[in-house]
Amino acid sequence: MDKKVKIKICVGTSCFVQGGSDLLLYNDFIDPEIIEKCDIEGISCFNACKGHENGSAPFVMINDKIYGDMTPEKLNKIVIEVYHARNK
Ligand code: FES
Repeated sequence: MDKKVKIKICVGTSCFVQGGSDLLLYNDFIDPEIIEKCDIEGISCFNACKGHENGSAPFVMINDKIYGDMTPEKLNKIVIEVYHARNK
């Protein structure tokens, strides 16, 4: 059985105002075949916005790894890569 990709989009204020709000429209930009293999939820601020080695807000966690400077294009790309890496 396929292993789902767990995506948590930060909906805290810093992330939300710096582009996180666009990421919540994930149905518009994540590959439809992949999206049904993902569990996607909003998550409150987990303090990465206070300073994190993986970039700046907006942050997303994908299978518990933190990614910063997230954009819709980047999120789609990473999710596809992570999905294929987990389901080889
Ligand atoms: S608001 Fe997103 S990590 Fe703080």
